[in-house]
Order: sequence, then structure tokens, then C-alpha cells
Amino acid sequence: MTLRIAVGADHGGFELKKELVEGLRDLKHVVDDLGTFSAEPPSDYPDVAHIAAHGIQDGQYERAILISGTGIGMAMTANRYPGVRAANCGDVFSARYSRAHNDANVLTLGGRVIGVGLAWEIVNVWLQTPFSGGDRHVRRITKIDQP
Ligand code: RB5
Repeated sequence: MTLRIAVGADHGGFELKKELVEGLRDLKHVVDDLGTFSAEPPSDYPDVAHIAAHGIQDGQYERAILISGTGIGMAMTANRYPGVRAANCGDVFSARYSRAHNDANVLTLGGRVIGVGLAWEIVNVWLQTPFSGGDRHVRRITKIDQP
């Protein structure tokens, strides 16, 4: 399954972003590299997180992968957008269930937290796991955007 994926990072996630962009294109996904294009600060994670979240909302992207030092700020920013469900994952179990139960459309990773090997395990499971579609999960996801 080929996906339209936005990949973005700040300086804390630049190195891991480079790896993922190249590998995802090798897997024949259509990848938009939102930057940053340097490991040198300053770069502010909300800048790329806003672009990615807008693109998910308007259907330009089916998924987004955002990397910063921890990935936490990226998730906080993206989750401001109704319909965007960003999951900060540092393990494969969380990645799998962020898809199966939460239908996450954004994955955030910590470039200063995990190595490239684990990052690929997380990304592969996240891209390959379908949303379960169970009524209880649909009900809960609907309630996310109903404060
Ligand atoms: C940058 O130093 C760091 O704060 C940022 O990459 C990220 O971890 C924020 O959530």
C-alpha cells in the first residue's frame, strides 16, 4: 500500500528524518520532506507540525511522521487540529495500538530517545496496522473532537 506521507523534524530529529525519508521513498511511498534541513538549532517544532496537521486535515497527506528531540512538542501541536490524532510512540506495542484502537494519522518520534533500528520497527508496524474499526473505538475517536 503506497501512502502520501509528510515527514518533518526540528534540529533534534533531523538525522532520523533523513533516514526515514530515504527509506520510505525506497518503499515507494510518496513523501513530502517538510524540513528542517539541518541539525543546527534554532528550528521550532511547531512550524513543521502545523504544516503537517493542515495537510492531514485537508487530505493532502494520509499520514505524517514528525520527529523532534522527544516528539512530545510535535504531538502537542498536531493534536490541536480536529481530526488529527498524533501519537508519540517509543515502542512497537504503542505504535500498533495507536493505529488499531486510536486510528492515529500522525506518528511522533524522539530522535534523542530512540535509535534508527527501533524507529524503523515502530514506523513499519505503524504504517502496516489498519484501524480495527470496532464500534467502541469509533465512538471513542468521535468523542475526542467533542470537548
Ligand atoms: C529541542 O531542544 C527540543 O525541545 C525539541 O526537539 C523537542 O524535544 C520538543 O518537544
